[in-house]
Formats: sequence, structure tokens, C-alpha cells
Amino acid sequence: MSFHNDDNYLDWIDQLALNDYVVIDNFIDTELYKLILSFFERKREEESLKKAGIGTFSQHQIDLSVRGDYVYWLDKVRDESLKSFFKLSEELQQKIKRYCFLSISDFECHLAYYPAGTFYKKHYDQFNARSNRLISFVLYLTPEWNYGDGGELAIFQEKEIIKVEPIAKRLVLFKSDKILHEVLITNKARYSLTGWMLNNPVGLGYL
Ligand code: OGA
Ligand code: NI
Repeated sequence: MSFHNDDNYLDWIDQLALNDYVVIDNFIDTELYKLILSFFERKREEESLKKAGIGTFSQHQIDLSVRGDYVYWLDKVRDESLKSFFKLSEELQQKIKRYCFLSISDFECHLAYYPAGTFYKKHYDQFNARSNRLISFVLYLTPEWNYGDGGELAIFQEKEIIKVEPIAKRLVLFKSDKILHEVLITNKARYSLTGWMLNNPVGLGYL
């Protein structure tokens, strides 16, 4: 069984190859959305989300002037109630590998919670000591995002700035080394699941 058909994958991957990013609406269905959101709320209640840092482990810093989100790193084994999400992300990775000829060998991902008033300043997802991120993956989960709620993803292109509204079930993929981007200040709690397709196993980037 597959989540999406090959025509859709080909279309999305074409856009990713052409523009360095693609926005896909309704990437997940309502059932999977509810599953991820209730898992998310449970982790928040358990206070499992931690203030996100910048840089690699060895130079880990927490700088509120750069980013204000809280994260929970997901683990396929420990967080097995999200099995259908991991299956879907594996399907996507397989298609990208096949149609983009990318040597993706792993996927790391976390839940991200931005309280009202927070943001993530302009950055690339590949930083110096961490050059193994190939494709960034952001799945939006905020219930009932409305215009004016903020928290858009701003994508900086040579001639324009594209603002992507963080509408629930929407997925954005972009090339981690090519896209300069920013999370604009959010006026209400913003939920997402963010991941990266890697070209060597999780962990090696930290060595
Ligand atoms: C990130 C990031 C974008 C978003 O976590 O590196 O840029 O829209 N996230 O949440
Ligand atoms: Ni980023």
C-alpha cells in the first residue's frame, strides 16, 4: 500500500529539482494528523520538549535572539506509536532517492513548538560542522491557522521572498544547502514536525 501515487511524487520532485523547494498541501490525511497532534500534546504535557539550540553538540548554544522553539527529537523505535508517520516518510525518501539520484541514507526529525511571540531568524539548515543535511522537511500541524496568526516560513530567493503559510497537513521540502529561510514571528502557538534527509547516518555529523 502506498500513501501517494507516483504521478504526484514525480510532480513534487520535479518542482523541488526546479525551484529548490516545493509546497505540498494535504500531505497527510486527517487520521494521521490527529495521531501526530495528540502525540505532540502528550509530549508537551509530559514536558518532554526542550529549548532548541543552534550549532552542533560540541558548540551547542541556546540563543533566544536566534530561535525560540522547543523541540522533541523523534525515535522510530521509542516512538513506535508514530509508525504510520515513519512509513510515510520512508516512502517519500525512497521516491526522492529514486527520482533525484540522491544518496539519502538516514532521516532525523523532531517536533517543534513555537510559543506565541517566537521566531527563527534567517538561516541555512546546513551549518559548518554539519554538512550532511540534503533535504529539509517541514510538516505543519497548527490547528486552525488563520491569516494574521503569523509564523509563516519566509523563503529568500534572489528576486523575491516567498511566504509559506503554516497550514495544517501542509508539507514543505527544500534543499538544505540552497534555501535561505526564516520562521516569521508567530502570534499563536505554532506546531510542526521538522526533519532532514541525510547523506550519512545520524550521529556522524556530530563527530
Ligand atoms: C528549522 C526551520 C522552518 C519552519 O527548523 O530549521 O527552518 O517553517 N523550520 O518551521
Ligand atoms: Ni531551518
